[in-house]
Amino acid sequence: MTGRRTQILSADPAGIARAAELLRAGALVAFPTETVYGLGADARDQRAAQAIFAAKGRPGFNPLIVHVADPDAAWRLAAPNAAALALARAFWPGPLSLVLPLRPEAGIAPAVSAGLPTVALRCPAHPTAQALLRAAGVPTAAPSANRSGAVSPTAAAHVAQELEGRIDAILDGDPCPVGLESAIVGFEDDAPVLLRPGGVPLEALEAALGRPLARARTAGEARAGRPDAPGQLASHYAPRATLRLNAAAPAPGEAWLGFGPDPEGVRGPARNLSPAGDLDEAAANLFAMLRALDRELAGGGTIAVAPVPERGLGMAINDRLRRAAAPRGDVRLAP
Ligand code: TXA
Ligand code: MG
Repeated sequence: MTGRRTQILSADPAGIARAAELLRAGALVAFPTETVYGLGADARDQRAAQAIFAAKGRPGFNPLIVHVADPDAAWRLAAPNAAALALARAFWPGPLSLVLPLRPEAGIAPAVSAGLPTVALRCPAHPTAQALLRAAGVPTAAPSANRSGAVSPTAAAHVAQELEGRIDAILDGDPCPVGLESAIVGFEDDAPVLLRPGGVPLEALEAALGRPLARARTAGEARAGRPDAPGQLASHYAPRATLRLNAAAPAPGEAWLGFGPDPEGVRGPARNLSPAGDLDEAAANLFAMLRALDRELAGGGTIAVAPVPERGLGMAINDRLRRAAAPRGDVRLAP
């Protein structure tokens, strides 16, 4: 909602206590997680959940992830199956979300799950997120704390740039160490399906499951409109600049986003995700570097992006890059 005064709170015990109090009172509070900053509200409060959609300009059909401090709190909201239990044991707390059948008696506000019979659950590891969830003691709905369709925030300053005046508080912590949103796993007849590659690599998910993990449609295959997994909108995470992927070098006038050693003769705005070719470092840098290049290009222009290998966090990096490069027709959804 516009017209809110946004308090900036330090991520210390006093700030966390204040943020928890605000959450319990139905306010909108942005907070750091190890993946990206989330925009939190009490998931049992329909009015607060609706205010998240208004603040982000998010379409109402796109459901929110509910954050809890530990697996027991998650299983009070949704019924786990054997594969979900195995994944939770391996990766919670951590950068994984699980989509499971919502228990009707859980009291989750209908806006949170967008009317679906399922709910996405995440137990984040970040110490500030953990402390906030424990202090608030309420299941906390939290999408990434950006305007809908924009690049996710990995620093408190990114949240302030997009949501200052639209939310009640920002818990100001360090930049997010993983830098990409959680991996989302859903289930079809109890068989796990990767709905969104993210902060836990596919290889690690498959190792924990002891079998291959089916993948939902890729960005290129996703339709516009109302997708099966709503986050699968083809164009998302979009900077204002155009992206040219798998580039060997920038063409004259293009900005450059490198990975590994840079080519000769890079001029103009340039960043490197990881000169050493480290995918974890690249993930942590991706969104902040896209933002920085976008700002330096002042809203126009093209960013040429070096190839990133499709393994480890590279799969999620490439997913976000493809969405950022996709035609924009289907993403600038009206608030
Ligand atoms: O790392 C993350 O996951 C961050 C931090 C804040 O936890 N959150 C995040 O939320 O990325 P958001 O709203 O930006 O993305 C959540 C995705 C959306 O694509 C949404 O469609 C999907 O989760 N989702 C939520 N509930 C779902 C459900 N019941 N079924 C299928 N997809 C669901
Ligand atoms: Mg998001």
